[in-house]
Amino acid sequence: MKKHEHHQISEVFKTSEIYETKTSETSTFHVGPIPIYGDIILAPMDGYSDWPFRSLCRELGSAMSYTEFVRDADVLNRPHYVESKLTYTEDERPIVYQIYGSNAEEILAAALRLREHEPDIIDINMGCPKNSITNRGAGAGLMRSPREVARIFEMLTRALDIPITGKIRLGWEDRQNYVEIAQIIEENGGALVAVHARTKEQGYKGEANWDAIAEVVQAVSIPVIGNGDVQTVADVRAMKNHTRCEGVMIGRGARGNPWIFSHLDRDEVPLPKVEKTMLTHLSRSLEFYGPERGLVLFRKFAARYLSPYGLPADLRKKILTREEPGEFRELLAVTIQGIERG
Ligand SMILES: Cc1cc2nc3c(=O)[nH]c(=O)nc-3n(C[C@H](O)[C@H](O)[C@H](O)COP(=O)(O)O)c2cc1C
Repeated sequence: MKKHEHHQISEVFKTSEIYETKTSETSTFHVGPIPIYGDIILAPMDGYSDWPFRSLCRELGSAMSYTEFVRDADVLNRPHYVESKLTYTEDERPIVYQIYGSNAEEILAAALRLREHEPDIIDINMGCPKNSITNRGAGAGLMRSPREVARIFEMLTRALDIPITGKIRLGWEDRQNYVEIAQIIEENGGALVAVHARTKEQGYKGEANWDAIAEVVQAVSIPVIGNGDVQTVADVRAMKNHTRCEGVMIGRGARGNPWIFSHLDRDEVPLPKVEKTMLTHLSRSLEFYGPERGLVLFRKFAARYLSPYGLPADLRKKILTREEPGEFRELLAVTIQGIERG
């Protein structure tokens, strides 16, 4: 959020040379007036889609950058608490701020505040399945109030000069109103709808219902992003063929494989590339969060990057408990040499 901070971060990493971002000359689709180049997008994930990981995925080919969700009341009352979640760099654009709340007036007040930080798009979360959030009528709870969804989109699209989008689920087991909600978003000026093809009750389990995404594509003329269970490059193609969606959003599958945005499955990524990306990700984490938190917050990613290699448990533990970035890097280098030697 602090402008000078953005620029510092950009300067440091602008020259990083490891990325072969595949950009196409022609846009794949538009969100309102904003052209999107590419069709694979990192999903917003609380605790994961922070600047270090998000910017890495964007450079590897993710077509736009969704931030972690923030609560409307926090934007207004605890700006300090949400500041790091909303910090981005220019090279991530288009940047999508995601917000959750239950009441149109409050969401509007927060969106107007967020607008000051110059995101390209504001997205309304209607997918979070946590009871603590849905009980308040936010996240997937909003899908139970179609009239409030209409008010939110009507008020925000009228008051703001940037596109407003929605990320939905299928609804609740007793009321799978995804087509209705997608149409309400469109009718009230929304510029895109992303569909996580599970119900609230399913949480993150069970199979995503891609047929439902296809139904939404048929029902609206704004772009649709399909989401749920995409893990491989073949899955990306399969979802697009099955649903005809404009974009595919990848959440959990990207956490251990950001190279999917460069169209590489995990087993196709050569070890030197894994090492380079890990070191870049770690540097960004240290830069962003400082030396202590930076390493701690990187550990969950390191565990996923290393998981395909079946490291002995004691070595794995030793790597993931290092407290000094230098020690971590040294042990990583030795470990990678060991993997190379087989
Ligand atoms: C740890 C975690 C955090 C998430 N946080 C958010 C969030 O902040 N906003 C949101 O819209 N969805 C969030 N999601 C849902 C994902 O965006 C996505 O819809 C879901 O994981 C399904 O996609 P996948 O099968 O590719 O993982 C989160 C998911 C996970 C696993």
